[in-house]
Amino acid sequence: MRLHETSTFRATFFITGMQTKITQYLSEVELFTAKNVEELEQFRIKYLSKNGLLNQLFEDFKNLPPDQKKISGQMLNHLKNSANSKFNSVKEVLEKTNVQEKEHKDFTLKGDYGKYGARHPMSVVRNEIIQIFSRIGFTVAEGPEIEDDWHIFTALNFQPDHPARDMQDTFFIEQDPDIALRTHTSSVQVRLMQTQKPPLRAIMPGRVYRNEAISARAHCFFHQVEGLYIDKDVSFTDLKQVLLYFAKEMFGNDTEIRLRPSYFPFTEPSAEMDISCTICKGKGCAMCKKTGWVEILGCGMVDPNVLENCGIDSKIYSGYAFGMGIERITNLKYSVKDLRLFSENDIRFLKQFENVI
Ligand code: PHE
Repeated sequence: MRLHETSTFRATFFITGMQTKITQYLSEVELFTAKNVEELEQFRIKYLSKNGLLNQLFEDFKNLPPDQKKISGQMLNHLKNSANSKFNSVKEVLEKTNVQEKEHKDFTLKGDYGKYGARHPMSVVRNEIIQIFSRIGFTVAEGPEIEDDWHIFTALNFQPDHPARDMQDTFFIEQDPDIALRTHTSSVQVRLMQTQKPPLRAIMPGRVYRNEAISARAHCFFHQVEGLYIDKDVSFTDLKQVLLYFAKEMFGNDTEIRLRPSYFPFTEPSAEMDISCTICKGKGCAMCKKTGWVEILGCGMVDPNVLENCGIDSKIYSGYAFGMGIERITNLKYSVKDLRLFSENDIRFLKQFENVI
């Protein structure tokens, strides 16, 4: 029986309360659609469940006077069939779309990870330095940034009250006994020599602190990589050759080096090393102040006093040490003119290093 046939009933016969209800439910059933299984389930509960409308109507049907039973019965069966077939057809459609949605999910597609960011230029350069030295057998050693006076100064031959201490203006954390932020990574040399037996061959990267006025060329914290080699018969020639190797690996094969005599309390003899200017290749420019050379590190043969302070027999062993600022190397590699940029976290500066690995 169709809807228009129902209206034929309506036109032809006296319409009972039950028939009105059935007609109304029938149009609801025929118009029903479901966006999801939950909505379909609501439909099932409303019409087809044990306490649903259809069962209620069949209950009411039992009490109808016999003359109404024929038409109402036909209408009721029609409603029952419509509700059942609606339920089944909507269910089928939902199942199909569900399968399709699943089929359309490609789990092998690359996810949306957002932007990764990049290494800070200082980290890039530090890693490069570590790699260059590790290729010739140097391991990496690290030590604390908060240090006692002995490891920063006394063991390294800086006598108390000696003017050499003025070279490194210090942040003290406690006095008597003096605890300070380390002013150089040479303190890690001391720790290494105290705890390990020669031969020793290590580099020591880390952050250091000095009480300096902050400017384009100086900061109250910066980064160093120190190197130490202790063995039998180590000579200044070994030092020079290792530093030449480093300069060429870091700045290019055409890089030249020169050593100028200098002074550090813990090395004897001591030197400062320049490389031929990376910008003008030695011709003279603003970067090298027209000299053709730029200073990059301090170095020297470890003073026998220092070896003895750290429990190494200076009659058997000798060694060299060198130390450089990572900011300085980075400036030279990437022509960064103001070292404050390294710690300001300005995204416009950092983005320029996105493709540097
Ligand atoms: N520690 C020295 C400094 O910070 C650098 C250096 C290290 C010099 C090792 C010589 C040998 O200035």
